[in-house]
Amino acid sequence: MLISTKFMTLERFIRQQEEKFPQATGEFTNVLFALTLAAKLVWREVSKAGLVNILGTTEQINVSGDILKKLDLFADETIRRTMFYTGHLCAMASEESNGLIEMPTKYNSGKYVLIYDPLDGSSNIDANITIGTIFSIFKRVTSFGQGNLDDCLQPGYKQVAAGYIIYGTSTMFVYTTGQGVHGFTLDPSVGEFLLSNENIKIPPKGKFYSINEGNYNLWDPKFQKYINYLKEIDKQSGRPYSLRYIGTMVGDIHRTLLYGGIFMYPADKKNPNGKLRLMYECNPMSYIVEQAGGRAINGEKRILEIQPDSLHQQTPIFIGSTEEVTLCEKFLKEEN
Ligand code: AHG
Ligand code: MN
Ligand code: MN
Repeated sequence: MLISTKFMTLERFIRQQEEKFPQATGEFTNVLFALTLAAKLVWREVSKAGLVNILGTTEQINVSGDILKKLDLFADETIRRTMFYTGHLCAMASEESNGLIEMPTKYNSGKYVLIYDPLDGSSNIDANITIGTIFSIFKRVTSFGQGNLDDCLQPGYKQVAAGYIIYGTSTMFVYTTGQGVHGFTLDPSVGEFLLSNENIKIPPKGKFYSINEGNYNLWDPKFQKYINYLKEIDKQSGRPYSLRYIGTMVGDIHRTLLYGGIFMYPADKKNPNGKLRLMYECNPMSYIVEQAGGRAINGEKRILEIQPDSLHQQTPIFIGSTEEVTLCEKFLKEEN
């Protein structure tokens, strides 16, 4: 078999991207390198947890129950510890922590801020269904020393990088630094992420909608109308759409990115601000989808233009192919 001429590791790719910026100091590159290591460490544990589940003797089920519950925390701690000592961060925030994560004093005056969701889709862990990790990187706005909330609470358009790791049938690292979206698949036999999806572009129109439709009766009638529209039969406009919903944002967005369509988590009577978190989930995913040529809105404006006021704030989100998001927006604004 011929060796593919496209053989490209994630680290080599990151370096090549860096070379396009002669003023780059390598600090940002090192942050990304550390993230690839964290991804592999989490993957190692996540895949073992799946195995325990598949084999599942009584004893293992008990143990796995424990392990699985701990997987969220394991991922959180692994990422935190891997990223602590790069010296290039000044602040970190995780979906699993209340406030800012306290950084070791010697290593807390770097240029960058890391915000992450260590394990996305935790309700799917027990069932060996796709889960993920999401990250978002900003440049600090304060000038030196330990970073603070001001460094974190920046609107999403100021992100300098964002990405996710999807632990699915294979594990992928998908990221953007504002120069397109690139996907790398982990080859577990050599422990390297290899370039598999260069310059991902989301189809302008898709066939799928993705939403927790169990919440239908909690939605605003304008939005119910949109969902009803997607289900109407009309050959010419390609309806009805098909429904796909994993319940892991990473998985649902990954599919949407590759196949097109729309993913939504609107406001409802239970969650008047939506459920998904702006800083940990919506900002990074919106940056990626926009970079791939799609759109992401909260119903009124771009997700990336929201000025955050707290680390855990939630937002409604409508994200995906331009055509679907634009039509959804019209329904929300009753312009249709
Ligand atoms: P997390 O596991 O990080 O708490 O996130 C779960 C999120 C997201 O991944 C998913 O899209 C959504 O919750 C599913 O929510 P519902 O169960 O309400 O559909
Ligand atoms: Mn999540
Ligand atoms: Mn999570």
